Amino acid sequence: MFTDFKTLAENLPCGLVIADKKLNIEFVNDFALKKILDLPGDTRPSNFGDYTFYTTDMRRFDMDNCMRSMVETGKRTFHKTLLVKSGNQEKLVYFSVNTFVRKGEKDLYLFNITDISDEMDCITHSPGTFGRGEYLIRKKIIGNDQKMQEIYRMISLAADSEVNVMIQGESGTGKELVADAIHELSERKNGPLVKVNCSAFSETLLESELFGHVKGSFTGAYKDKPGKFEMANGGTIFLDEIGEINQSIQVKLLRVIQEKTIERVGDNKSVKVDMRIIAATNKNLRGLIKKDIFREDLFYRLNVFNILMPSLRDRHLDIPLLADYFIEKINDQTGKNVKGLSRDALKLMMEYPWPGNIRELQNAIEHAFVLVNGNIIEVNDLPVELKNRTSSGPLPDTGRQNLSASLYYAESFRNRHSGRLTINREQLEGVLEMHDFNQTKTAEFLGISRVALWKKMKKFGM
Ligand SMILES: Nc1ncnc2c1ncn2[C@@H]1O[C@H](COP(=O)(O)OP(=O)(O)O)[C@@H](O)[C@H]1O
Ligand SMILES: [Mg+2]
Repeated sequence: MFTDFKTLAENLPCGLVIADKKLNIEFVNDFALKKILDLPGDTRPSNFGDYTFYTTDMRRFDMDNCMRSMVETGKRTFHKTLLVKSGNQEKLVYFSVNTFVRKGEKDLYLFNITDISDEMDCITHSPGTFGRGEYLIRKKIIGNDQKMQEIYRMISLAADSEVNVMIQGESGTGKELVADAIHELSERKNGPLVKVNCSAFSETLLESELFGHVKGSFTGAYKDKPGKFEMANGGTIFLDEIGEINQSIQVKLLRVIQEKTIERVGDNKSVKVDMRIIAATNKNLRGLIKKDIFREDLFYRLNVFNILMPSLRDRHLDIPLLADYFIEKINDQTGKNVKGLSRDALKLMMEYPWPGNIRELQNAIEHAFVLVNGNIIEVNDLPVELKNRTSSGPLPDTGRQNLSASLYYAESFRNRHSGRLTINREQLEGVLEMHDFNQTKTAEFLGISRVALWKKMKKFGM
């Protein structure tokens, strides 16, 4: 019987895992290992709980908790749509658990994990559905602000087309993340994504980096070398800090775009290349054009589709969300168990102008992790730029209600961890407004059921 089961299990086109209630794996089929739980290297955890799944709203799925509640309630099945990273892909899976109770033996749990990514692909961009593409973007690019919603929309549109994209925005606003997302969601996703930081090379080196060279074409060119354009063939090339390239390379770049061919330095043979260009800059290119530093014709060729990244201070309601995201991420990396920021620390973070944007915020949290004593980050754990701010000026462009809502955001993260939910009418209004009065989203955000939300609203006479 068991050999029959094995044959069956190995031939099913879905992942099967059998584990006990502590999640110790007793059986796992090949499909699960190779197609769904494909971790880098030879990592093969023997406990199923060591595989990380995410819920579709980007939170880590708590498998231990799921098991505990099944055991406690005696519930025999559980189903959920989850995300899992497999190899270098994200998969959307239908995850179900079934208990089999056996007399005189320990109960076992059968996990069935079916890859439904392709099914979701078909509806990714149809209006009104929350497709896989969006899951992917939102899992990595955090932000609820309206300005970020617009960025998500732009990413989908850019991914659906083949035109060149220009991403502008201050340093640390996530330009590179956006470029990654566009590539990953585009038809070229199986091709290479090649990145070049144009400010990192001298003139000659940048030229050979981009176009390649033949042996002996300049001192140091010991052998033939293909350039990044050739390497990006069939995929996408990301030209970061495009505002830094000099006039002679600008002319060459224009030619690449127009003729779709390149010549290696020192060679006169032209090579066909097929790639989509995504460029990024924190410079004001129109200003550079006025000063004759950047070619206008090149600008228009690159700027077919423009994405302007908002600075963090223009979407400061996302600060708690980002802080929470980085805390969870660093907890994962370090095995620490930081629960959140103290109210005062968060208030400081909300009021700080973040000139280095999200990169600076990430650094601040990393800094705090080094100093934190206990599991709440306090004002003293923050970098000196933040904690030494004496006057906390008014927050940019937001009304009182928004401020209250944003502080509520902050509180709610802490409350969620401790399981309390306290909210006043003004705060609830703020949170509802932030979710466009969508009750489902509001309830989800607050971590309560829709009925509970409805009861609260009724209590406040809303
Ligand atoms: N919306 C975001 N959500 C999560 N992390 C972000 C976000 N934007 C930026 N980051 C992180 O901040 C850092 C800087 O982002 P990056 O894309 O390199 O910015 P830029 O290219 O604009 O300077 C990276 O570590 C990136 O992962
Ligand atoms: Mg960058």
